[in-house]
Amino acid sequence: MEKIKILLVENIHLVAKEKLEQEGFEVVLKSHAPDEAELTELVKNFHALGIRSKTNVSKKSLASNPQLYAVGAFCIGTNQVDLVAANQLGIPTFNAPYSNTRSVAELVIAELVILARQLGDRNMLAHSGGWMKSADGSREIRGKTLGIVGYGHIGSQVSVLAEAMGLKVVFYDVVKKLPLGNAHVCTHLKELLETSDFVTLHVPETPQTKDMIGASEFRQMKKGAFLINASRGSVVVIEDLAKAIKAKQVGGAAVDVFPDEPASNKDKFGSLLQGLPNVFLTPHIGGSTEEAQYAIGLEVAESFRRFLKVGSTSGAVNFPQVDLPVIAGAHRIINVHRNEPGVLGEINGVVSKFGANIQGQFLSTDNRIGYLVMDVEKAEAKSLAGEIGQLSRSIKTRVVY
Ligand code: NAI
Repeated sequence: MEKIKILLVENIHLVAKEKLEQEGFEVVLKSHAPDEAELTELVKNFHALGIRSKTNVSKKSLASNPQLYAVGAFCIGTNQVDLVAANQLGIPTFNAPYSNTRSVAELVIAELVILARQLGDRNMLAHSGGWMKSADGSREIRGKTLGIVGYGHIGSQVSVLAEAMGLKVVFYDVVKKLPLGNAHVCTHLKELLETSDFVTLHVPETPQTKDMIGASEFRQMKKGAFLINASRGSVVVIEDLAKAIKAKQVGGAAVDVFPDEPASNKDKFGSLLQGLPNVFLTPHIGGSTEEAQYAIGLEVAESFRRFLKVGSTSGAVNFPQVDLPVIAGAHRIINVHRNEPGVLGEINGVVSKFGANIQGQFLSTDNRIGYLVMDVEKAEAKSLAGEIGQLSRSIKTRVVY
């Protein structure tokens, strides 16, 4: 079979290259983020493309190579990829949404102590020659109550770590979640806000979570309680947070995400929170650790392996999900086609013309495409796949093994 060539741009962690090469793929690295024109030329020579957050992948680039089989976003977000075009062209797009869960959770745990001991302010003062030695208002976090809003991957990890440090944990989620350890479920956000000494936000960015925490929520919080936001900038009304801190209703805040974030490290950052007491600001680095980059490299490389060698699309953000075990002695053909009536009949017509014995067939669809995985016994898988690929409604067809 033809050797599969993979292009990785934007300095993706070298573990991805190592893993993909161990799998027998040819890997080419580029350190920069190519623009549309360069990318469109580059992808003509590759079967899979790996990017990070700065490379925009347009329909034009995706369509420039009919043999482009997969895109991997070696990061969390996939907004930089035209996902609808990729779907219509039969190109699954993978990402690594949970590789940095632990990194965010550890930052949050550190921030509990930072806020309870006003470490940010004391550090800045000491750097500028000041000396603020006092126990006033400094507290241990042991025995305090942590309220977690959003008990998903990060929220539940924070829950476990916080209990290990002696905090009581309460949480609120719109979905029923199993409490870990001794965590207590709140049925309303209000109950959480009223009982917590620290409130930490771990919800996704949705219309429901936009401005979720504003003036009325700050009023419901215990006087002097702390807020941590390492989720999304849109979740907190920054003007209201600044007012609540100035009024000492909120005792301090650690904020990692903002409604307006600079596009690059060269741009200036401005926020109403700058200069306020006990406000610890970080530049959206909750998930930015070397371990997370390593885990992302491994996770997306593994998704490439599973798709390119087995035909598994589980974890793809824009594709019907299929995950089947390898069948010994069979050949596997994968086919992406337009989701229209009669396509499967046409494909099976070709199969019976070839007299091929089907060992397994699995179809999964979304409203635009169908993804068919077919295990066949006969050795003519390549010519069978060739003929299926010629059908007018086939988009992409390939023999994976
Ligand atoms: P997740 O999807 O595993 O968990 C989110 C949880 O929030 C789910 O349990 C969901 O049911 C719940 N939820 C959704 N809407 C809600 C609402 N209106 N009220 C209460 N709960 C609600 O997501 P994960 O991985 O835990 O990420 C959480 C947040 O952290 C996301 O916004 C993500 O973008 C952000 N994040 C930030 C990073 C950083 O660098 N600061 C890095 C990684 C993720």
